[in-house]
Amino acid sequence: MTSPAAPQPVSSKIVLRGIYKVYGTRAAQAAALADLQQGAAKAEVQQRTGASVGLAGVDADIPDGLITVIMGLSGSGKSTLIRHLNRLIDPSAGEVRVDGKNILALSLSELRAWRRQAISMVFQNFGLLPHLDVQANVAFGLKVRGEAAQKARETARYWLARVGLDTYEKRYPDELSGGMRQRVGLARALAMDAEILLMDEAFSSLDPLIRYDMQDQLLALQRELHKTIVFVTHDIDEALRVADHVVVLRDGRVEQAGRLEAIRAHPVNDYVRRFMSHRPEGSTSR
Ligand SMILES: Nc1ncnc2c1ncn2[C@@H]1O[C@H](COP(=O)(O)OP(=O)(O)O)[C@@H](O)[C@H]1O
Ligand SMILES: [Mg+2]
Repeated sequence: MTSPAAPQPVSSKIVLRGIYKVYGTRAAQAAALADLQQGAAKAEVQQRTGASVGLAGVDADIPDGLITVIMGLSGSGKSTLIRHLNRLIDPSAGEVRVDGKNILALSLSELRAWRRQAISMVFQNFGLLPHLDVQANVAFGLKVRGEAAQKARETARYWLARVGLDTYEKRYPDELSGGMRQRVGLARALAMDAEILLMDEAFSSLDPLIRYDMQDQLLALQRELHKTIVFVTHDIDEALRVADHVVVLRDGRVEQAGRLEAIRAHPVNDYVRRFMSHRPEGSTSR
């Protein structure tokens, strides 16, 4: 954006170039990739080749220190995209750079080491270990990373207090409500002290009021922590509350990306406009 009122440009923490992800037999993948690279649309390619298309050529820049929300209808590629950022998924083609480093070139052991210090993820289904108490869940990743038990415990206690769970340290996940479990998930991710936080529909299974509290908590923490947060949601109200920057996906491609205010002011088409206006009263979030 070049208007005089536009905020200062920030540097990109993560750069995606020409990301394609196709599923199917080897032959179907090759045919689908070739078609998509010629610009063919997802539905047509799937029909012609029998491949399933996750991403159909994504270029995106994720700004440093801001919250980027990835939006789009179900099946548009949000989860596929966010999972490329920590290489839970490898692309069929394309480049992923984080801090200028080509993470696709990392060996498995380099990737593991890089993930442990650079990037954490909060999952929709919490992903807590049921046989460990809350404190041990938060300390788990720190211990795996080689930190001494005492220090890991102290770090866990600090982050549990920060998310308001200091009196729940010795409880087990199945003794907690959904909102509390996700606070544990958030504490666990923050305890790793990574600069990048990935959140895929992390609040989507929570009741509306709890969800609102979690958004508040995240925003309060972010004012202090300035992490690079990539936040997937299909919920417009949530997106409008937490986003600095937005990437709107459709059928595996970027429909529009930029600062939230810029996109709200100038949506490129009705698909984007739909995501930028509040839902009508009484409609559901799905
Ligand atoms: N493992 C897989 N095998 C085949 N197709 C997949 C696989 N994972 C995702 N897809 C396809 O990729 C597309 C995008 O999926 P996804 O990223 O989960 O969408 P979203 O998170 O936006 O709902 C969908 O059409 C889905 O069917
Ligand atoms: Mg998804």
